[in-house]
Amino acid sequence: MRVTLKTLILACTMGVLLISSACRHEPDIIGANPPILPNNCNQDTVYFRTEILPLLVSSCAVTGCHDVGGESFTISDYASIVDKVKPGKASKSELYKIINRSIPELRMPPAPRQPLSQAYIAKVEKWINQGAINNECNDDNCDTLAVSFSSHIFPVVQNYCQGCHSGNAPSGDLKLTNYGEIVNSISTGKFLGSIQHLSGYKAMPKNSDKLSYCKIRQFELWIDAGTPEN
Ligand code: HEC
Repeated sequence: MRVTLKTLILACTMGVLLISSACRHEPDIIGANPPILPNNCNQDTVYFRTEILPLLVSSCAVTGCHDVGGESFTISDYASIVDKVKPGKASKSELYKIINRSIPELRMPPAPRQPLSQAYIAKVEKWINQGAINNECNDDNCDTLAVSFSSHIFPVVQNYCQGCHSGNAPSGDLKLTNYGEIVNSISTGKFLGSIQHLSGYKAMPKNSDKLSYCKIRQFELWIDAGTPEN
């Protein structure tokens, strides 16, 4: 009995060792490309890094406004943003109040720039009321077989580019607010070079992280497919 147990334990240990060493030597299938993680965002949660930060930076961190070295305060990262927030209390938060003001000249971004959309303001409110944490999830809807303008391309441009590339004075004199404007910019070749951060192009989105591998890949595939309006 004792021998059997010992043998069993020994056999198990050997088995575990064998399996774990087999795992360790598994080849890196994905090679040079970063791994593609599944979308793990919870629909009921607002995530700071993917849903709040990109548009806030692009709407507020424009040269001469709230960029580093700009006017009164900086809006560039979590610390600078949470400083203007009372976690759990959107209605008492400076950030929420200032993007909601009814007088266009006192609102941020101020007139003649467009106000932030109601949908985005509602997200900011929810994020603050959920505790204003520096949370993040992988929002990549990394479908590379059926990339479409409406599900993959336009939402990324809305969230990551339109804060600067819209309104009466769009950055770089470039508007990216609809299909025609986006395709027009792609046809110059600058759009893809900019999001790929190729040398000789202006790296976009300006002052932010590069888009994920998955998002850039979807732009490439959609452009290769002839930029269908689907
Ligand atoms: C924070 C503001 C900001 C954001 C966000 C932003 N841009 Fe720009 N973009 C600029 C400015 C400013 C310029 C003018 C060139 C410069 O000053 O770098 C520009 C220029 C460009 C150009 C012309 C580049 C060239 O070589 O002339 C393209 C294309 C472009 N942006 C695409 C995008 C795309 C696509 C996104 C979103 C993924 C984006 N931008 C996000 C501010 C921004």
